[in-house]
Amino acid sequence: MQDAIIDHIHTNRDRYIEELGTYLAIPSVSALPEHARDVRRCAEWTAGEMGRIGLEHVRLIETAGNPVVYGDWLGAEGAPTILFYGHYDVQPVDPVELWTTPPFEATVRNGEIYARGAADDKGQVFMHLKAIEAYLQNGGRLPCNMKIVLEGEEEIGSVNLDAFVREHQVELAADVVVISDSPMFDRGIPSICYGLRGLAYFQIDLRGSSSDLHSGSFGGAVANPAFVLAQILAQMKDRGGRVKIPGFYDDVRDLRPEERAEFARLPFNEKRYRKDLGAPRLAGEKGFTTLERVWARPTFEVNGLLAGFTGDGAKTVIPAVAMAKVSMRLVPDQHPDTVASQFETYLRKVTPSTVELKLTRMHGGKPWMTDFDNPFVQAAGRAIERGFGQSPVFNREGGSIPVVSTLQEVLGVPSVLFGIGLPDENAHAPDEKLDLENFHNGVVASAWLYEEIGGVGSLNSFPPRGAGAP
Ligand code: BES
Ligand code: MN
Ligand code: MN
Repeated sequence: MQDAIIDHIHTNRDRYIEELGTYLAIPSVSALPEHARDVRRCAEWTAGEMGRIGLEHVRLIETAGNPVVYGDWLGAEGAPTILFYGHYDVQPVDPVELWTTPPFEATVRNGEIYARGAADDKGQVFMHLKAIEAYLQNGGRLPCNMKIVLEGEEEIGSVNLDAFVREHQVELAADVVVISDSPMFDRGIPSICYGLRGLAYFQIDLRGSSSDLHSGSFGGAVANPAFVLAQILAQMKDRGGRVKIPGFYDDVRDLRPEERAEFARLPFNEKRYRKDLGAPRLAGEKGFTTLERVWARPTFEVNGLLAGFTGDGAKTVIPAVAMAKVSMRLVPDQHPDTVASQFETYLRKVTPSTVELKLTRMHGGKPWMTDFDNPFVQAAGRAIERGFGQSPVFNREGGSIPVVSTLQEVLGVPSVLFGIGLPDENAHAPDEKLDLENFHNGVVASAWLYEEIGGVGSLNSFPPRGAGAP
């Protein structure tokens, strides 16, 4: 690579952070209707930035929900094409009072930038835009072809993206998918992620009577939906942390002994992990280590509970209704639809006829795992080494990116998950932040990634299929 490009990145380091601050100031919260206009404004800002740095065919592509931001650069004749995917939407900020500084006023403290979206995912998207800018403003070329798809609904389950990918299958053709939307293994230990968990999410509503009841007059005569809900939830897992839904484990791919050995070799400090989380003791499925539990085993979680009187003081009441949000993280080869019907059957079986049950299925996503024995992963490994001065470890992650398995399935190409966040950067929580050293090294590594991928040699033919874009 020309020195000019890396020099450019070093020289412009502070400007990048300022611009990132502007990006992070747009409250693109996809979950909240009151932010719908901000989400669109964020899409427009992103597109403006992509055009400004020299990407072509930049535009918003409408979906049934929030727009996809598209842009490309297809001038690297004979070189492979990257499809870069990321998301410009962010999680809600509640509880906002727990933020040290306002979530949409990016603030730099101790080498970290604090704001909602700093790590997940605007900061990591912006890192790539800056690497692309360094090329396009120094010679006007990238070493490989690039198609960029940024969605605005990842944090609400990517509900419209599967259809988008299938509709634009031809135009999105690429040799490799690149995603930066995950943490690295640990501070100072960059990683390439080769597996993600899937998700199946539900809301359970129970009703025991048409109105709240005096617990003295009626207690003992009717079921209490709050108590029934607790009894139902208690039947979802056994004492060993195993999910009791019949059939739930049927499609779970066993961990290979070699993979368990690889996990065990990673420099994981369980004591520090526990302390950082502030947990009195770790808990999980019997027979598995912590990394195995979060990366390679499915779970059942209660995400929220609502019932009865929760104000100050005491109120003698039998609530009319009770509600729970529950979700299951899934691993290969579980399918969210199969798990959903297994769960519904079991839930109906364990729910007594003393209450009315309403089950609502919410978003979900398939688990994903890739073979990391391909030239693009090797290329990414070399790029990370250039940017971070250290070769990456290979890890899996417990989180979900719903579109990854769809991209793999529809485009038939591997994905490289090259995330530069840190596990303690408070994604989805108060005081989300991004380490600026990692951000900077990530811009350098991204620049090298395009160079390394440019050298891999295209598996598809040139001109890239669908040149000219969706
Ligand atoms: N960036 C995360 C996914 C992630 C988290 C990857 C941790 C690796 C480690 C993404 O933005 C996210 O939060 N996904 C949701 C998906 C859901 C809304 C369908 C998740 O995992 O809960
Ligand atoms: Mn994300
Ligand atoms: Mn997220």
